[in-house]
Amino acid sequence: MKTGIYPGSFDPVTNGHMDIIERSCKLVDKLIVAVLINPNKDAGLFSIEERIEMLKESTKHLLNVEIDSFSGLLVDYAHYKNASIVVRGLRAIMDLEREMQMAQINKNIAAEVETVFLVTRAKYSFLSSSAVRELALFNGAFDDLVPAYVSAKLKSKLE
Ligand code: COA
Repeated sequence: MKTGIYPGSFDPVTNGHMDIIERSCKLVDKLIVAVLINPNKDAGLFSIEERIEMLKESTKHLLNVEIDSFSGLLVDYAHYKNASIVVRGLRAIMDLEREMQMAQINKNIAAEVETVFLVTRAKYSFLSSSAVRELALFNGAFDDLVPAYVSAKLKSKLE
């Protein structure tokens, strides 16, 4: 069984992430979308539990997708989950340098784990979770950028 991991902060999950999840889950038997508990990033808008809940709701139509969280090294988590593939999305050339560095570090410490890059659909190439948070904070339109459940959560969070 081929298991893939799509790791990230997902604060919150956007339609850009959904695009990567929906496409990459067809390439593996099981896709684990893993929320990083990251001590290097500030607390963010949503708690880890809220991010997991939003991901679960937004992916419930995808039968081979599991939602989880992890801390520590990604490759250690991959070993723990018997996963051999890490999925990452590339939005634009600006992502490439950082993504290549992470993939090379991971390859250096765990040669058996492969990083696979999917190019994000052009209509989401500008999108990020922080852009969505900012739009929500300053009354900009974000309904088209996130799943409906996330949109409702954002509205109630910021009320
Ligand atoms: N659509 C929309 N937004 C996207 C996107 C897409 N397809 N792909 C990335 N993004 C955005 C995210 O929304 C996020 O935006 P934000 O900064 O505004 O919140 C930003 O790009 C960063 O992406 P994310 O995937 O959340 O990366 P990250 O830097 O938070 O986490 C990990 C990357 C989890 C892969 C990495 O930190 C990791 O592996 N950490 C574990 C420690 C480790 O193993 N280190 C060794 C390797 S370096």
